[in-house]
Amino acid sequence: MGSTTRRSWMKTLGTAAAAFGMSRSVEAEINGYHTLATEDNRLGPVTPRDTVYQILTDRFYDGDTSNNDFEDFDSSLYDGSGEDLKLYQGGDWQGIIDKIPYLEEMGVTAVWISAPYDNRESKIEDYQDDGTVDVWTSYHGYHARNYFRTHRFFGGMQDFYAMRDALHNNGIKLVIDFVSNHTSRWRNPTKNNEPEEGELYEPDTDADGNYVFDENGDAVGENLLADPHDDVNGWFHGLGDRDGDSSKFGYRHKELGSLADFAHENGGVVDHLERATQFWKSKGIDGIRHDATLHMNPAFAKNLKTATDSSQGGPITHFGEFFISRPDPKYEEYRTFPDRTGINNLDFEFNRAATNAFGDFSETMSDFGDMLIKTHGDYTHEHQTITAVDNHDLTRFRYIQPNDKPYHAAIAALMTCRGTPKIYYGTEQYMNPGSSGANAGRLFMQTDSDFDTSTTAYQLISDLAQLRRDNLALAYGQTSILHSTDDVIVYERTFYDHVVVTAINRQPDQSESVPSVGTSLPDGSYGDYLSGDLYGQGISVDSGALDSFTLGGGEVSVWTASPDLGNAPKIGTTVSTMGQAGDSVHIYGSGLDGDVSVTFGGTPANVVSNSATRMTATVPDGPAGLVDVVVEKNGQTSNAAKYDILTDEPVQVIFHVEAETEPGETIHVVGDPPELGSWDALSGSESFMNPDYPEWFLPVSVPKDTTFEFKFVKIDESDNVTWESGSNRTFTSPTDSTETEDTPLYYWQS
Ligand code: NOJ
Ligand code: NOJ
Ligand code: CA
Repeated sequence: MGSTTRRSWMKTLGTAAAAFGMSRSVEAEINGYHTLATEDNRLGPVTPRDTVYQILTDRFYDGDTSNNDFEDFDSSLYDGSGEDLKLYQGGDWQGIIDKIPYLEEMGVTAVWISAPYDNRESKIEDYQDDGTVDVWTSYHGYHARNYFRTHRFFGGMQDFYAMRDALHNNGIKLVIDFVSNHTSRWRNPTKNNEPEEGELYEPDTDADGNYVFDENGDAVGENLLADPHDDVNGWFHGLGDRDGDSSKFGYRHKELGSLADFAHENGGVVDHLERATQFWKSKGIDGIRHDATLHMNPAFAKNLKTATDSSQGGPITHFGEFFISRPDPKYEEYRTFPDRTGINNLDFEFNRAATNAFGDFSETMSDFGDMLIKTHGDYTHEHQTITAVDNHDLTRFRYIQPNDKPYHAAIAALMTCRGTPKIYYGTEQYMNPGSSGANAGRLFMQTDSDFDTSTTAYQLISDLAQLRRDNLALAYGQTSILHSTDDVIVYERTFYDHVVVTAINRQPDQSESVPSVGTSLPDGSYGDYLSGDLYGQGISVDSGALDSFTLGGGEVSVWTASPDLGNAPKIGTTVSTMGQAGDSVHIYGSGLDGDVSVTFGGTPANVVSNSATRMTATVPDGPAGLVDVVVEKNGQTSNAAKYDILTDEPVQVIFHVEAETEPGETIHVVGDPPELGSWDALSGSESFMNPDYPEWFLPVSVPKDTTFEFKFVKIDESDNVTWESGSNRTFTSPTDSTETEDTPLYYWQS
């Protein structure tokens, strides 16, 4: 694709359609992988058939040296040699464009890039005990300053469009990182909390109050919008660092490393951040990775997700960073976060189990299998969790596991397990910082690797990414553990007649025999899908069982059956999993072409478009709540997928109640709308926060403009429920979804 073509495509579709929002869907077949293109040049959400590649934009490839320095920039903050990883290295959007052939050949079908908008540029100074000062920059994009201006080290808006189009034209979806928890550090914890930046800016506005952009789509002007040092409109919590406060209130209302923490209960903040995600959606992104969801108010997160997906263009992918795994008291909060917000999790539980089983061997392969079975029960949408062995906040996996055999085995497991796999840039090049820690792992790939397409890891990812597109068991299948010991695991994925069996021995130099075990693979002989690249072998299946075999040191064998699945409708997953009447939903699976109909909780829904592997429907105006989505064709009925229908556009109401409780008891609100549990106390709100006991409060997402009935309940650790006495209370929610409203302080009716 030459740059002329790209530019003209960008002009017609990128600016006009994205800005004015046309959304007629067109089918596109790219890389042999069925995907969706819209006229606003979006490819469609990331699905479990995709392989995601995570790029720290500054750390990938410098495709445009003109944006490495600016007249008004302190050039000592640019490095470029890959030596000082606290400084800018120069990677940018042109660099991503330059490496598209490299990504494509690796089988990558989605990239997650750094937040694309303007970040703080002043240096960040960390005073050390020995009197020296470490100087840091916002190369990573986690220091938001102006959501409507591009991060100029990555490029201007035209460069963003060019990258988007180049990716999309090669079948690669675009996910951006997005930080709605905070701006940047506003006080220096290493220097007596001395004031720093943290200010939030916005572009000029026109007479109608709309932001002004020039002919290139770049923001015009810059105006102070909110200042944590002079917080006249209450946009920030301003409560200082969380430190050791592990209460829910501490996690959500206090600061993460002194980053100015947005008050998500403030309608002005809600409105601004919803406009920001919609702005980037209108630029043709396919998904958002939400930063720091562990630290956010879930009612806000749910409403942000819903507002983004209900805007022109339909649902995009949402996954977030709820940085928790077992054993942790917040595991239950982590596990249910997708159900409460519609934002999927980055699968930190998978990450813990995988790095311990394949990395330092502190857990066994049986433990790894147990995690797969437990999370199958725990997660409502297990295929949509984003799985990984490392990321930019963790020690690079290659440092943990320098031995090729278990290293490759871990990649094979990642690519064949449930979830949507994500590869951290450089994993395919064995990039190894030689030390632990997050920043050490954020190597500059341009100076640290040769982008070699012949490495075993690169080829392995490519082969298994192809299998993920071809065999629906990897994308949508159930998991069974056929056999496991401390060092060996044999697991099977099945989606109807699609079957993939993976056999792994993590020990590099020890072989282990595996007894004959039952399998869903039909009787016959199977070659190793990886053609022996990881020392694999063929196998026979007789009378429904794999022949006994011996797994050599470091062996990974993959056996597959990918027959035609026939004509009957089968659902793999849906995107999104939550929304309101009128929202569109993509239903992915098999046999979805032809004369199909679909119901949501028994209510017929309008089918907008359909093909064999994907249909798009509109959420019907039926009863709200968690319902089954079922597709029918010629009298054949599919399996069911879960979808959460919201009563209306959600809005935040902040409930307040004074109540005395016994140790172990928590306060919750329960009411008549499904959003408040339809009077089922254990399905009502999450537990309230009590920084000022006996006062409790909680921001709750309820349908807008609705008068509803509710009561408070106490729930103890054994789920015993104590209801308030007296008659039901009522409240009327705000009419506009970005408004928020506090209830009066109620008193528990004993
Ligand atoms: C989590 C991000 O992944 C991390 O890198 C960042 O520093 C913090 N959130 C704050 O945004
Ligand atoms: C059941 C509860 O016991 C009661 O207190 C509440 O008022 C009703 N549900 C709502 O109709
Ligand atoms: Ca550059």
